[in-house]
This record gives sequence, structure tokens and C-alpha cells, in this order.
Amino acid sequence: MSLTERIAALEAELENAKARTADEVEKFRVAMLGRNGAITELFETFKQVTSEEKRALGQRMNQLKQAAQARLETLRSAVEAEGPAQQGPSIDLSAPALTEPLGSHHPISIIRDRIVEVFGRIGFTVSHGPEVEDDHHNFGALNFAPDHPARDMQDTFFVRSADPAQDRIDGIDTTITGLHPNELALRTHTSSVQVRVMETTKPPIRTVSPGRVYRNEAISARAHCMFHQVEGLYVDKGVSFAELKGTLDYFTKSMFGPDVTIRMRPSYFPFTEPSAEVDMSCTICGGAGCNICKHSGWVEIMGCGMVDPAVLANCGIDPEEYSGFAFGMGVERIAQLIYRVPDLRMYWENDVRFLDQFTAATFRS
Ligand code: PHE
Repeated sequence: MSLTERIAALEAELENAKARTADEVEKFRVAMLGRNGAITELFETFKQVTSEEKRALGQRMNQLKQAAQARLETLRSAVEAEGPAQQGPSIDLSAPALTEPLGSHHPISIIRDRIVEVFGRIGFTVSHGPEVEDDHHNFGALNFAPDHPARDMQDTFFVRSADPAQDRIDGIDTTITGLHPNELALRTHTSSVQVRVMETTKPPIRTVSPGRVYRNEAISARAHCMFHQVEGLYVDKGVSFAELKGTLDYFTKSMFGPDVTIRMRPSYFPFTEPSAEVDMSCTICGGAGCNICKHSGWVEIMGCGMVDPAVLANCGIDPEEYSGFAFGMGVERIAQLIYRVPDLRMYWENDVRFLDQFTAATFRS
């Protein structure tokens, strides 16, 4: 290649030179004007040419060098004008992924699902029923006497009939007197679901019914007008109280750990005979005594008993052939013992600072 051709080739190269980053600008500088750069080397060659050629090409050589310097400045200021963000590759593949804030399951859902799962392991299915119930399923079939106080307006939310004529009995406005014809109510427990299961299923029956229940309570740290239950029912030939106790012992150990023990105290429910309250050794203080167990070392966690033969008969199951046990617990209560939530109202305020704390548990359950 003659000197003229080399000059022309470099002129073209300068024209086309591009740089997107400061590094590329520097590479361009080194390649052209550095100690071993193309233009620097061309000047070395130029020293050796004849004086005739020097005269002919000297000016063009100087212009080439100036053009290279000008191009370098142009590229440098263009890259600087783009700002630092553009100086690296546009994606940093080594950067950690952006984390979207995670939602969480509600603590009551988490505990409800765990309770259901623990019973599922020993063969209990899950049953659901309506939250608006009739008297028969919520009370009648369960042996509540017609004048049982649980049917009273104090405890039960009755649902007004869609038919305004139903609001009057013998011409008296029952919405004022409280003598409302109580054909429908918000269920006060999920025992109503068990009635529905017994009415439609031939034993053996092993099922739990989780769900919302409603009672007319003043809202406080310890009570709410809506809460959640998981009730359980087992009906088969020869079901015994010992099996009830064994099942609940299995449940509490599965939920709270192998060290907890349970005890049963005689109690009363219209639909079970005999009936018992189940206490668990206090997991908060380990039995030493604390506020949660009212310094007794025991916390009440559920009610239970052998299904009253009259209830089986009400649901079309022969009590001579079958027996069964039932139990029922409040999910909020179990959750309180696990999460130590001091005030029931926190469950329903939906404060994200409260709910966020259950994100990890959501993905464990
Ligand atoms: N239905 C009872 C309640 O709501 C709980 C219970 C269920 C008790 C089954 C005994 C047997 O309080």
C-alpha cells in the first residue's frame, strides 16, 4: 500500500469511527494516536520518504492527524453528554432480581388450613355449608330445646325475611318487639354443616367443617361478632370416647408440638353426651402460669363429646348401630396461641404492618 493509499484508508476509518462508551473512546485514541497507533506509525514511515514526497503529502499528513484529534473530541463529548448511565452495557446481568413485595395469606387462613391439614392426614374430609342457616340445621336437629338461650336474640343474628308480611305476627311488628319469625339466621357454629353431612351421608363419616360463624357479641379485644371455627365429626360402628381423646391428643401435638398434653373437663352441649371442654397445657408459659392461661397452666381450646343418640336419630342415622364423636374449636383462639396476637380486632383491621408479618408463614403452610 502506498503512503497515499494508507492516508486515504485512515481518513475513511476516521469518518466511520464510533464509540458508545468512554472505554471505546479510549480504544479509538490508542488505535489512532497512541504510541503504536496507526497515525503515529504513519508519521514514522513518513520520516523515511523522499523530500519530494514529504512536500507533496506533508500537509495531508498534518490534516489527517488534526482530523483524528477532532474525531476523538467529538466522540468523547458525545459519550459524556449521554451521561454515566449509558457508559456500561445497558443491562447488568449480574444485578440481583427486583423483588416485588409479596402478599401474604391471612393468619386465620393459615391456621385454618393447618388444622384442616392435620385432620386430613388421618382421613378427615372437608365439608362446607351455608352461612345463612335455618333453625333446623343450626339448632333443632342438634337437640336445642325450643326455649334454649342460644336461640335468643342475644346470641343469634336472625335474617329478616324478604317478605315484609313475615315481619308481622298477629298484626304485631316483630322487628320492633324482637319476636322475629326466625326461619333464617347466621349460623352460630359449623355444627350445622355436620347435620347436613349426616342427613346425606351413610356412615362411616369422618369430616371437618371450617368456616365463619356469627354471634351477637360486643366487639372487644377478646370477642367479635364474627369468628371462625373448625368442627369435626366422626360417626361409625363402635366409636368410643377413647378414640375422641386420642384424636384430640394427636391434633394438639401436631399443632403445638410433642410436649403439650391435654385434659378434659366435664361440660354440657345439647348435641353431645357426655360432653367435655378440652384444655391444653399452656404453650406460652409451659405451665408456670401467665396472663394467657390466667395463671392456671392450662388453656381451653375446644369443646367436644360423643354425639347424642337423639342427634343421630334426628339426622336419619340409627343410634343402635352407630356412635360418633364431635368437637369444635375457634380458629382465632388457636391462632392466638400460636402467633400471640394480643387483640382479636387486629385480625380484621387489615393493617399491612400486621399482615406483612405472615408472609413467610404463607409459603410454609
Ligand atoms: N358447637 C360448639 C360451639 O360452637 C362446639 C362443639 C362442637 C362442642 C362439637 C361439642 C361438640 O361452641
